[in-house]
Amino acid sequence: MILGIETSCDETAAAVVREGREILSSVVASQIPIHSPYGGVVPELASREHLRNILPVVRAALEQAGVGYQDLAAIAVTQGPGLAGALLVGISFAKSLAFAIEKPLIAVNHLEGHIHAVLLEEARRQVNASDLLPEGRPPARPALLALVVSGGHTHLYLAEARQSEAGEPVWSYRNVGRTVDDAAGEAFDKVAKLLGLGYPGGPWIDALAPQGDPEAVPFTFAQIKAKAHRKGEPGALDPATATYFSYSGIKTAVLRYTHVHEMEASIETRRAALAGLPNPTPADALPLCDRRTLDLIASFQRSVVDDLRRKTFRAAEQFGVDRVLVSGGVAANRELRVRFTAEAAERNLVIAFPSLSLSTDNAAMIAAAAWPRLAAGDFASDGLTAEPSLVLGGAPR
Ligand code: KG4
Ligand code: ZN
Repeated sequence: MILGIETSCDETAAAVVREGREILSSVVASQIPIHSPYGGVVPELASREHLRNILPVVRAALEQAGVGYQDLAAIAVTQGPGLAGALLVGISFAKSLAFAIEKPLIAVNHLEGHIHAVLLEEARRQVNASDLLPEGRPPARPALLALVVSGGHTHLYLAEARQSEAGEPVWSYRNVGRTVDDAAGEAFDKVAKLLGLGYPGGPWIDALAPQGDPEAVPFTFAQIKAKAHRKGEPGALDPATATYFSYSGIKTAVLRYTHVHEMEASIETRRAALAGLPNPTPADALPLCDRRTLDLIASFQRSVVDDLRRKTFRAAEQFGVDRVLVSGGVAANRELRVRFTAEAAERNLVIAFPSLSLSTDNAAMIAAAAWPRLAAGDFASDGLTAEPSLVLGGAPR
């Protein structure tokens, strides 16, 4: 059993996962109410809340799993990417705990964690379905393409597992796509904010979009050419195969649309009305949205989802993979799931998403990603520290 700890952004999370696939507990203390008045994560407040929450959250995870510290094989913690001060709380705590209880510490990349949110559920299904080799191992599968799409990231990875001597899969990643500016989730959050809706914006837009016409406002996306990277630059992609996303332009286009159609007054009315409610929900916002606003919301969501879908499946074709996996907060989006699932069916590809609770930040995914490392003895050194800009699977240089 591994205890996972995650504090990279605005959720303090701890989880106990057995053998990388069985979630015994997964506790998430969300800071949404703290950051909500600011319409975004305030790093100093995030660190302070993590400090306040980390011990009760870890205790709750152990208690819910019915295990004690000595039952653990290791402690896994998010090393990056994320907010430096927020990451440091989890890392300092995990290091001290590992030292005190004399267990190994495993450092996990948050983005690898998001991919494992899907793999862990797949592994569980395989075991349940007895879809195993005679030696009791899951079959080796060819490379898959993973879209990690959240408030901080829009990345495409080719992920491949080879079998270790111990029979556990050892994963390797190649980064083949990323955003050149805003992440897709950031666009959801910024557009929701500028329309006077709640925070984080993704769930609000997801809930309101079905009430509007997704074809009412035609947004266009500029074609982004592969940028020439300096050799050795962190995160540089292979220009021959790179996929680039960009979501800052659509935010500006939405803002311009609200100016052109003089929507400012109604936006301010909505913002004030929601601010006056104790726990506003998208259902409260609906009667405060006119047709034009709902059409704008629906069109924005359709455009972002379609851009993600087109580029992801184009990359899947380019790399000849038969399996696509989507993870991260935006993977909770209902329209995204429907449209990705339909396109995968058309192309005869396997598509997988995490369950909703594992789409957004959690620690079960961190514990699951650490499992193969335990068998490999791939432990963190005493000098482990936060890496706010940690990359996953840089392209060959
Ligand atoms: O993975 P996550 O919890 O944190 C990061 O690593 O960023 O993702 C949070 C992001 C936010 O931008 C939020 O608005 C977005 O995921 N999100 C959604 C939905 N639920 C969360 N975006 C679109 N539709 C949703 N249903
Ligand atoms: Zn995340």
